[in-house]
Amino acid sequence: MSEDNKTVDKASMDASDIRESVISQELRDSFMQAYAKNTQGELEDQLGDNVMILCENLVKIYKTKETEVLALQGLELKVEKGEFVAIIGSSGSGKSTFLNMIGGLDRPSAGKLYVDGKDLFKLTESQLVDYKKNTVGFVWQNNARNLFPYLTALQNVELPIRFGDNKDVEKRALDLLNLVGMLHKKDSKLNQMSGGEQQRIAIAIALANRPKLLLADEPTGSVDQRTSDALLDVFRKLNTELGITIVIVTHDINLAKKVKRVVMMRDGKTSSERIVKQEYADVSLLKGFAEEETHDEFAILDRAGRVQIPREMLDSIGVKGNRIRMTVEDGKIVIVNGEDESVESEGGETAKEGKLRRKDRRKDKEKEA
Ligand SMILES: Nc1ncnc2c1ncn2[C@@H]1O[C@H](COP(=O)(O)OP(=O)(O)O)[C@@H](O)[C@H]1O
Ligand SMILES: [Mg+2]
Repeated sequence: MSEDNKTVDKASMDASDIRESVISQELRDSFMQAYAKNTQGELEDQLGDNVMILCENLVKIYKTKETEVLALQGLELKVEKGEFVAIIGSSGSGKSTFLNMIGGLDRPSAGKLYVDGKDLFKLTESQLVDYKKNTVGFVWQNNARNLFPYLTALQNVELPIRFGDNKDVEKRALDLLNLVGMLHKKDSKLNQMSGGEQQRIAIAIALANRPKLLLADEPTGSVDQRTSDALLDVFRKLNTELGITIVIVTHDINLAKKVKRVVMMRDGKTSSERIVKQEYADVSLLKGFAEEETHDEFAILDRAGRVQIPREMLDSIGVKGNRIRMTVEDGKIVIVNGEDESVESEGGETAKEGKLRRKDRRKDKEKEA
């Protein structure tokens, strides 16, 4: 540990306390029971029993008096049970909107959205309340939304358990604090804690009602890199040891590098995807590795056959307008600049030659007629 990092944040001092903290058998069992209880219901046959999130052509329009914002423009994503997915994308690309839809905090405008076998378009208000209480847990960048600053860590975690099934309140709260490596701070007030510590408490709170799906919106947005790593370890532990499906939104590229599946969003759509090549377990041990070595990159093809081509790629072949040429060559789809007349297409002829040939053919046809 380097000298200058020592003062950064106590919660980040040592992520090993997280990796080594033992999850009590009772806590494990209580999660498993909660999982067994909420079975998938009527959509199981349709979706397959391994799907946690399925969105098809998901659209969200925010209407205000003056404007309409198309925040999600036909988003497609499938997340299986037990997956750990990071969503990255620039500000305004619709990440929070998407997470809020999955979390049942807001309703989508069109498309399909299923979570844990429930059709989120069809839930009544009271079913939605139940969904938010029992199926999903939410962690925000800014904890003010679910933490009480003048209560202790323990009291904060106890609250949602009391509102939930109200069983073994203190015992479960202590177990959860232990799980996030904060047992030693159980009697500290929230306003006496660092950002990273508060964030761990927020995670414990999100777990109070044993969600199957944990959603986190920029959970490391306001902490330093080491704290961010430690928080990632917490999420990873929840994922591997308790089987909680995790979707985390971030613009922290370093963090995204350490997650197995990374989905990129652009203009309210999923634009591309990276899947880590190495074994999951190894990834936590790797720090500062080059991304090319660790992820395979995929572009997302939507139902209508549309693909989003990154601007950099288009720029590199000199595309300025909105025309490109596509051909199939040797089992590959080749895209070239549509305005570039000198580019060769099939049969070795240039685009210009092709144009002339087609013109000649048209003339011939006219003559024949
Ligand atoms: N409640 C809202 N009302 C109107 N527009 C919104 C609302 N929430 C988000 N938007 C707009 O939707 C787009 C996507 O926003 P958001 O999901 O917050 O993006 P991100 O989280 O990726 O930064 C942005 O253009 C944003 O201004
Ligand atoms: Mg956001």
